[in-house]
Amino acid sequence: MAGPTPSAAGNPLTVLTLDELRRRSSVKWRMHPPDVLPLWVAEQDVPLAPAVADVLRRAVDLGDTGYPHGTAYAEALGEFAADRWGWTGFRVDHTTVVPDVMMGIVEVLRLVTDPGDAVVVCSPVYPPFYAFVSHAGRRVIEAPLGPDLRLDHAALDEAFRRARALGRRPALLLCNPHNPTGVVHRRDELEAVADLADRHGVRVVSDEIHAPLALPGAEFTPYLTVAGAENAFALTSASKAWNLAGLKAALAVAGPRAAADLRRMPEEVSHGPSHLGVLAHTAAFRAGGPWLDRLLDGLDANRTLLESLLAKHLPAVTHRRPEGTYLAWLDCTALGIPTEAPADEPGVASDLAWPARFFLDRARVALSSGHVFGTGGAGFVRLNFATSPAILTEAVTRMGRAADARRPQD
Ligand SMILES: Cc1ncc(COP(=O)(O)O)c(C=O)c1O
Repeated sequence: MAGPTPSAAGNPLTVLTLDELRRRSSVKWRMHPPDVLPLWVAEQDVPLAPAVADVLRRAVDLGDTGYPHGTAYAEALGEFAADRWGWTGFRVDHTTVVPDVMMGIVEVLRLVTDPGDAVVVCSPVYPPFYAFVSHAGRRVIEAPLGPDLRLDHAALDEAFRRARALGRRPALLLCNPHNPTGVVHRRDELEAVADLADRHGVRVVSDEIHAPLALPGAEFTPYLTVAGAENAFALTSASKAWNLAGLKAALAVAGPRAAADLRRMPEEVSHGPSHLGVLAHTAAFRAGGPWLDRLLDGLDANRTLLESLLAKHLPAVTHRRPEGTYLAWLDCTALGIPTEAPADEPGVASDLAWPARFFLDRARVALSSGHVFGTGGAGFVRLNFATSPAILTEAVTRMGRAADARRPQD
């Protein structure tokens, strides 16, 4: 497989070779045997942004590995949010650090819902939304996305009605931008959500971990900047955009009418993030902009490459061009691969069903199995295209070959 080409200089996705990536010990590269190309979990095949690496190197050289202090992370996010998204009302004193986005979501849900209350999710959606919500003793209600894979406000209205009937304090857990579809919700769509939530007395918690990854042509709208969202929360982090999942730290942000709720969060939650995590995430938001822009260009090129690869090698597989994230949600139902009802509960990410099982066994390409994303996921796979064009090309070529060689019982 070809290494980096001079013309691609600057694109973080073309720096590391497959051999270098295989030396990594993170789950993406260790879950499967070495002949498998891993395009599943949301890790990126990039080196660290120099601004982040420098900060970490300095801390290690200095032995600066104690506890975190101060509000630099929130200040850096505030500057980034004003600069990129025009979010001028961001208030550092309406934020708190949390260990990671999912833990932050659980802790915020504990503030605004009671055990047994309903939490609405827009399926298909990031599988831990199911597991973490139910492990916290709340009940998941699905409001499936529409056929265009965008938010379905009639489904939300109905789900909010059911959620109200189930318990006193329901919530909506929004994924903005949406994983796995890559949809970046528009302001008018979010305003309609806020209006519905207000009418039904539903508190909104918006997971904005993919926010910096709005791709050219799309504009990210922070939920807290939407009219009617004053009592909502957002959770964000530099972890997806700058590939910092191993350096945990995230921020919970409260709207003006949710700040009092946020102050009730138990103190120990803010003890979770590590000092190195906070340093890295702060550096990413503060000084990682130029690197991010090169990454976004690389991801934009990869999403176009993916379209042409699918057209050539897997013409029966369809998808909507993602507007953000580095995830493509591939509809494989027309491949004719059996899509019998999955045995697993939504949210059980460890198990593979068709067609992810088929592509792993026959193409040696690891993808995320659609069925664990909840209603609407069976027959789909999620492909992570935050990799080099060479690996992406090899993976889709292999998938196409496997589909062409399919036997009836496959
Ligand atoms: C939508 C979404 N939320 C949360 C997470 C996990 O974030 P964290 O590791 O900060 O909990 C991911 C990871 O891919 C994600 O896609």
